[in-house]
Amino acid sequence: MSWKKSEKLMDTIKHYASFPATGVSLRQMVQFGQRPSTGTLFRASQFLSEELPIRLAHRVQELNELPDGLSEMPSIKRVQDWYAQSFEELVTMSRPSISQEVRQRLIAPSKRNRESRILSQTTQNPSVRAGQYRSAPPEPEENGNGNGHGKIASQKRYFVASDGLEDWPPELNQYNIRFAQVLERIKRRHDSVVTTVAQGILEYKRKRQRMQIDHNIQAFLDRFYMSRIGIRMLIGQHIALTDQRQRSDPNYVGIICTKTNVRDLAMEAIENARFVCEDHYGLFEAPKIQLICDPNIHFMYVPGHLSHMLFETLKNSLRAVVERHGQDKEEFPVTKVIVAEGKEDITIKISDEGGGIPRSAIPLVWTYMYTTVDQTPNLDPDFNKSDFKAPMAGFGYGLPISRLYARYFGGDLKLISMEGYGTDVYLHLNRLSSSSEPLQ
Ligand SMILES: Nc1ncnc2c1ncn2[C@@H]1O[C@H](COP(=O)(O)OP(=O)(O)OP(=O)(O)O)[C@@H](O)[C@H]1O
Ligand SMILES: [Mg+2]
Repeated sequence: MSWKKSEKLMDTIKHYASFPATGVSLRQMVQFGQRPSTGTLFRASQFLSEELPIRLAHRVQELNELPDGLSEMPSIKRVQDWYAQSFEELVTMSRPSISQEVRQRLIAPSKRNRESRILSQTTQNPSVRAGQYRSAPPEPEENGNGNGHGKIASQKRYFVASDGLEDWPPELNQYNIRFAQVLERIKRRHDSVVTTVAQGILEYKRKRQRMQIDHNIQAFLDRFYMSRIGIRMLIGQHIALTDQRQRSDPNYVGIICTKTNVRDLAMEAIENARFVCEDHYGLFEAPKIQLICDPNIHFMYVPGHLSHMLFETLKNSLRAVVERHGQDKEEFPVTKVIVAEGKEDITIKISDEGGGIPRSAIPLVWTYMYTTVDQTPNLDPDFNKSDFKAPMAGFGYGLPISRLYARYFGGDLKLISMEGYGTDVYLHLNRLSSSSEPLQ
């Protein structure tokens, strides 16, 4: 609580916010391979020590400029301070002094490096409309070359393979470890950002007597939470890569599983969602869920993201089924989960007979804090420190956040409903894995 941002810090933040963020693709994130060398990790640390402050700075700026007095809400200010503090910790971290020789070695293109240049191209994220997540600051400052990129971004590279030798000076390794520790602390600081921002929105709604959040605030929240997914992905990946060198599951690169098995994850999510449902409604047995999935379907993905999306959509279906048919029923209609594998996408359809959603409410399900639960559960930011996961329902974050996760790696989440019958949710997961993060 004693931390306070100085004017000088705010100036530095402003400067960093004038640079565009650099997007990374899933494929680039796995290029580090099983055991990145100290040199390779060091290069990635260097990239992140510039990239993360840029991303954090954009968020600090944006939190300052929210419409309709939202910036003034105490919880929003609190979140802004976290971003500014984390920014400060990153930019004030001392770098090791490197000899000329080591510097040469770090920047010398190795053979693997040339290969990586071919591999590391990112493509446009198909789930993002042009300009939806701007990577550059809003002021148009380019001199008419029209490519939409303000300042240099392209020459920054996330993955640079160093030579495979391990005889790096110990300072490099020490720096890598120190850097991972700072990231760890930052990650923990930001654990309750989603709940705290949600709290800020409630404060705003109460103060301004608003029933619903308007389009601008919705767009801000989409950008903000998407940015958070990206920042946490890079941080989580880097921390895992740093201590991966002790572990050895050949299918994992950091937190990415190169052979994410869809059936296994779906079965686990089904079990969890049914458990929460039984617990919440006091049922002897939750409605059944049938899974139709080839056991061999696997692809490169972050298992944690996929679990989150499945769990959220399944909880929604179970709730709809129980509430539609009554808690005292012995038998419920079965919810179906069908997994299809194509060249481009793996698609998961979740079909329930929970009575559907009126057509007029469809746009609302994508807005934050829209819920048909009467009594929103307690929104204490400290009650759940880890990623935002509600017991059964009631925050109105399940669908919009799941859609961001899907879009983050080029997938999407769609919902089609037949009012009076049920709902189909389509979760598209892009398996080409080359699309860039939706930039902020
Ligand atoms: N499969 C479904 N069938 C019927 N209604 C649904 C279904 N999925 C979502 N909804 C409606 O959309 C609303 C928003 O869903 P969302 O998951 O975003 O929030 P929530 O379930 O209310 O709360 P939580 O943030 O805890 O998930 C729900 O309250 C419900 O009214
Ligand atoms: Mg939900």
